[in-house]
Amino acid sequence: MEKIIQQGAEAIIYLKNNKIIKHRIKKSYRRPELDTKLRKSRTKSESKIINKLQEIIPVPKILDTDEKNYKISMQYLNGKKLSDNLEKLNHKEIAKQIGENLTVLHNQDIIHGDLTTSNMILLNNQIYFIDFGLGFHSHKIEDKAVDLHLIKQALESKHHTISEQTFKIILKNYKPENSKLIIERISVIEKRGRYKDKH
Ligand SMILES: Nc1ncnc2c1ncn2[C@@H]1O[C@H](COP(=O)(O)OP(=O)(O)O)[C@@H](O)[C@H]1O
Ligand SMILES: [Mg+2]
Repeated sequence: MEKIIQQGAEAIIYLKNNKIIKHRIKKSYRRPELDTKLRKSRTKSESKIINKLQEIIPVPKILDTDEKNYKISMQYLNGKKLSDNLEKLNHKEIAKQIGENLTVLHNQDIIHGDLTTSNMILLNNQIYFIDFGLGFHSHKIEDKAVDLHLIKQALESKHHTISEQTFKIILKNYKPENSKLIIERISVIEKRGRYKDKH
């Protein structure tokens, strides 16, 4: 029995035998060579990053990686997706954990790349990070600040009633190397964004 959980832009996510299958599907707007190359490399790199994080922050267990068929099979986190529930949950405690997870992630020089509340699941009082398809390795202040900027934007657009307080608590608990420089960089990124919007 299979149940489709989400049909996203890049992948179909379904539940099969209590496992999540993330299947990267063909995109016909890409040249076929590029399409297979991208699907293969993103499948490989997502599962590699999640495996690396296995023991250090809450992430789903990878059960199988099938590069040839662009499929990752992983532990089903039968919890609450933050995008649907954040306001109703203990968002202060959740924000604290997001800051702590992100500290560990960035100290490993791993950038999430798509840090939104759709990519976080609450299960057994722990915040799991998922969806490392756009993740990459970098030690740059800028790349780390972009992760923070993304979660800030996601909170403002999807959870505006609690976004300010939530983001403050995230920052209070964000303590990687160079945290001060990284946090300062956010405003530079924001200014650049506003400039782009106007011109
Ligand atoms: N391990 C998992 N456990 C539970 N739900 C998951 C898991 N992985 C993905 N999902 C669900 O599928 C959705 C899409 O998965 P995601 O990896 O974020 O793919 P996409 O790149 O399409 O956003 C998530 O927002 C979540 O609802
Ligand atoms: Mg996602």
